[in-house]
Amino acid sequence: MIFSTISDLRTHLLPLRISQKIGFVPTMGALHAGHLALVEEALRQNEIVVVSIFVNPIQFNNPEDLAKYPRTLENDATLLYQISDKILIFAPNEKEMYAQKTQIAFQFGALEQVMEGKFRKGHFSGVATVVSRLFHIVMPDNAYFGQKDWQQCCVIKQMVDDLMFPLQLHFLPTLREITGLAMSSRNTRLSAQARTDAKCVYEGLLLVKNYILNNIGKENHILEKGQETGLNFYKSTKFEVEYLEIYQKFSLIPMPSKDYMTDIPMGVCVAGYMEGVRLIDNIMV
Ligand code: PAJ
Repeated sequence: MIFSTISDLRTHLLPLRISQKIGFVPTMGALHAGHLALVEEALRQNEIVVVSIFVNPIQFNNPEDLAKYPRTLENDATLLYQISDKILIFAPNEKEMYAQKTQIAFQFGALEQVMEGKFRKGHFSGVATVVSRLFHIVMPDNAYFGQKDWQQCCVIKQMVDDLMFPLQLHFLPTLREITGLAMSSRNTRLSAQARTDAKCVYEGLLLVKNYILNNIGKENHILEKGQETGLNFYKSTKFEVEYLEIYQKFSLIPMPSKDYMTDIPMGVCVAGYMEGVRLIDNIMV
């Protein structure tokens, strides 16, 4: 069932939510196996699953990226119904979601001073605005997000805690193509050659991770060396690195290299451009 208005979805869910658990997977469509893995987990844990498909204009800082974002609603619906015909799709248009212009902006402090927050001004305020609206519309018991967008997971967790949304968050591992490239809706914009070459992103992350692990206990500058290794690695494959950095997993505070020997969980995070398409990925250490 596809709903395009907020009131139709709310009316449909109202009697059901009394006795059934609602799982929610927010997406921007152009669905791939990574999205579908979130949906499958939601189906295992809830009687009802809502998948939203909405390309949220206010989280794009680059108009060209927004214009080129793939929109494939019919195909998305087919993919979802192949898994289960019980899935409820919420696919509003822009007017429906932003009939009431928001004046509120979200700030996430240190969480958004790095990575996507630093390079895409206003991005997380846009994400938090749409996700909080969607949470109010769906009122799910469980909501599912992918660790590929790790910073997004941290920001959403902060928002849910701060605003006391009565729901449980689930962060699921990144699904990859056979080459190791993280699945992404933007991958469809890559040429076949670039899609193969882009495996260097994950290979680079594995390299940095190994570098960190093999040097645990030794006091040296893994970050600088890791970055160098990573950057050189990427240069040969036309992946233009925007950032490659190591953070504490949950606070997103940058790790000073002398602390790599500690047992604080870390994330190695990367973003960059391949054929002008922005790709991001990360690996946990
Ligand atoms: P979108 O990029 O469509 O992603 C929807 C969800 O799928 C996100 O939680 C994302 O982390 C997850 N995902 C993407 N690629 C994945 C992969 N390879 N493996 C596992 N999960 C993956 O993220 C957004 O949309 C938007 O910012 C949104 C939250 C919908 C707000 O507009």
